[in-house]
Amino acid sequence: MSQTEIKRIEKIEGSESIHDKAVIRKEDLATVYSKKKPRILSGMRPTGKLHIGHFVGALEPWVKLQDIAENFHLIADYHALTTNLDSSHLTDLSIDMAIDWIAAGIDPEHAPIFRQSQIKEHAELFLIFSMLITKNRLERNPAVKDQVRDLGIDERMTFGHLGYPVLQAADILLYRGDLVPVGEDQVPHVEITREFARDFNNHYGNVFPITRAFLSEFPRLPGVDGKRMSKSVGNTILISDSAEDTQKKLKPAFTDPQKARKGDPGRPEVCLIYSYHQKWNADGTEEIYAGCTSGALGCVDCKKKVGEKINESFEPIREKRKALEQNPQQVMQILINGEDRARAVAAETMKQVHDAMKFG
Ligand code: TRP
Repeated sequence: MSQTEIKRIEKIEGSESIHDKAVIRKEDLATVYSKKKPRILSGMRPTGKLHIGHFVGALEPWVKLQDIAENFHLIADYHALTTNLDSSHLTDLSIDMAIDWIAAGIDPEHAPIFRQSQIKEHAELFLIFSMLITKNRLERNPAVKDQVRDLGIDERMTFGHLGYPVLQAADILLYRGDLVPVGEDQVPHVEITREFARDFNNHYGNVFPITRAFLSEFPRLPGVDGKRMSKSVGNTILISDSAEDTQKKLKPAFTDPQKARKGDPGRPEVCLIYSYHQKWNADGTEEIYAGCTSGALGCVDCKKKVGEKINESFEPIREKRKALEQNPQQVMQILINGEDRARAVAAETMKQVHDAMKFG
């Protein structure tokens, strides 16, 4: 049976081939990218120190992907302006975020780390893409809609903010990124990126790959109050926190309300501390489960135990972080090197774009 025939049958049966999927997971990687290492473009806005939720949901998967992919790591400093026009701290924030990344295990020799603002091609591709998308399509994007509602900035929304996904698509396609590791909330941006790639290729010729979103396997880690972990809520444990601060932040953390005191049986499945145990104390979860449900283990001790495990796992990262903090010049040099490498790829893509468009 030919490939097209298989595809046709799969369509009829309603089961989309894995090769057509916009979103893929770890178990699909080997099948989809059997011939060539995928290029991965990952990014974050430099808005402050990273927390352990960023570590679990983003940094740790990025580090693991280094072995099987070609990684590019973008610091989206222009995107940071969408929610805060004060640019005076962006250089420091970018260096600080790069420190979190490197300390967590991103190897800048292997995978360039670079700032959006230092590579002019981002702005150039953003401009071209802005011609390919309607205002209506942008207004329908749920990721931007949610943010505008959360921030209450409906009437004051800027053109740049509405165009957030246009710049993000340029970020990704400038490096001809095959995969973008994201959380569920970012999938709409990747969908728009795919539309840009298809539209451009249809209008002008084949330049861009059809990017896929790569969903992290670990569900989002709740903050110490059980809500979504977020700096603006103040419920985070930072990668850069000291061991003492980590324990201090865990003390008032929410647990099962039915377990008022030691001796009461608790329900680990509704307790966020238990979800932390599952992540950082995987070998000890059975013991914790038994202790909690029987009442033998009190919440105070249970939190202390998980705090120790968290601290143990972050100790080497925090040590490395401290060393890098002492030497911001070295980190700046890492960025400059990464920017040189990224710029070369970006320039090559723009050459292909210009050739396809018959400019010049
Ligand atoms: N929107 C992303 C975030 O808020 C940041 C980002 C900008 C990004 N450009 C990107 C992420 C390109 C991945 C790829 O986290």
